[in-house]
Amino acid sequence: MNETTTASPSRRTLLGWGGAGLALGAAAAGGTAAALRLGDGSQPAASAGDAVPFHGAHQAGIATPVQDRLHFAAFDVTTTDRAALVALLKEWTAAAAAMTAGREVGDGESSDYADNAELPPDDTGEALGLKPSRLTLTFGVGPGLFEKDGKDRFGLKSRRPQALIDLPAFPGDNLDPARSGGDLCVQACADDPQVAVHAIRNLARIGMGRVAIRWSQLGFGKTSSTTPDAQTPRNMMGFKDGTRNIAGTETDRLDKHVWVSEKDGPDWLAGGSYLVARRIRMHIETWDRASLKDQEDTFGRTKAEGAPQGKQREHDEPNLKAMKDNAHVRLAHPDSNNGVTILRRGYSFTDGTDGLGRLDAGLFFIAYQRDVRDGFVPLQRRLAAKDALNEYIQHVGSAVFAVPPGVRDKDDWWGRALFA
Ligand code: HEM
Repeated sequence: MNETTTASPSRRTLLGWGGAGLALGAAAAGGTAAALRLGDGSQPAASAGDAVPFHGAHQAGIATPVQDRLHFAAFDVTTTDRAALVALLKEWTAAAAAMTAGREVGDGESSDYADNAELPPDDTGEALGLKPSRLTLTFGVGPGLFEKDGKDRFGLKSRRPQALIDLPAFPGDNLDPARSGGDLCVQACADDPQVAVHAIRNLARIGMGRVAIRWSQLGFGKTSSTTPDAQTPRNMMGFKDGTRNIAGTETDRLDKHVWVSEKDGPDWLAGGSYLVARRIRMHIETWDRASLKDQEDTFGRTKAEGAPQGKQREHDEPNLKAMKDNAHVRLAHPDSNNGVTILRRGYSFTDGTDGLGRLDAGLFFIAYQRDVRDGFVPLQRRLAAKDALNEYIQHVGSAVFAVPPGVRDKDDWWGRALFA
């Protein structure tokens, strides 16, 4: 698993190393991110500046302790050429290995590194001098990669996982097609927003002519915790969010609820997962006028402590019967859903105002699960039908992706088993 972090030099340090930096740059071009880390012992570290290993059985960015910032991008594949798409995925993987290790893409931005000053630099440069910031890049493939408008675009139709369904419409949805779907996605998480944005920007730049960004979302203030010892973050409604989530260290629960197993199939996805993203707008102004009692009844937890209603402490076991029938936690709890459990990894967003003086703010909800049909879908059916929270929220964007297993080593690349 990838949740351990390793200390790594900053981008500027690498530049300052001159000849040594050049050698490391060459290693990056070959995708050997691990080479940098040899000798620094893979000690778990919580420091915000460190690097998270890119290679592993599972992709980083799922069980990894949640970083502070998000830049999520969904891409349309614009090329019709399978070989061009495969070449892109190889280039993306090499770039992702370099950036997550705190290195520049390709030969770098600096003219010392550029082999031809007449061409644009390989790296856009705005992350020079910044630390790796626990950057993770998590890659997924959407339904449209397998089939679009009835067309088997890349000879992959028969490889579409049965669980990669087109999400059904839920009551109350008000989905904007321009903020929904996508053939590919990359979730960039980092403790520094500039590092996350730099990563998506450079991947988009590399992909020019082969893919185009369909939509993207910036997020801040993580709204979930995969590290139970850490203080639980609060969402835009002021409530602790992520109290009862799967921890990144709970390997049994991750195997049971998050990672696709070999027997689930298809083979190419074993060790991977499914990602559901929902842009959920909050009617903040209405919420802010609701009484504290209404707010607490809406979730079934207290606002200050985050305790389940009728209990004292945040991590006390919820007594669902002490909550109202339509309380969010009561409805979402595994006991109300035949054990359904998902890993939540969402972020708050505020994208300015909407022209009517209201904040365009909410939760960019991200959930990982072993099967969407036994995860997000039944949960959201229940919530959409009954949740007291529905008075204050609206789902305005939606996407689903299959997330392949981890990139094993420098010869592996995002999606290799799918295209094999
Ligand atoms: C803006 C929308 C949402 C907000 C503000 C929100 C907020 C919260 C809060 C404050 C909690 C209690 C603390 C915790 O255990 O994390 C919670 C729990 C939970 N939420 Fe949400 N949530 C939202 C949407 C959703 C959606 C769309 C789903 C799934 C379809 C979901 C699934 C869950 C689950 C599974 C729990 C844990 C229940 C338990 O085991 O006790 N939430 N949410």
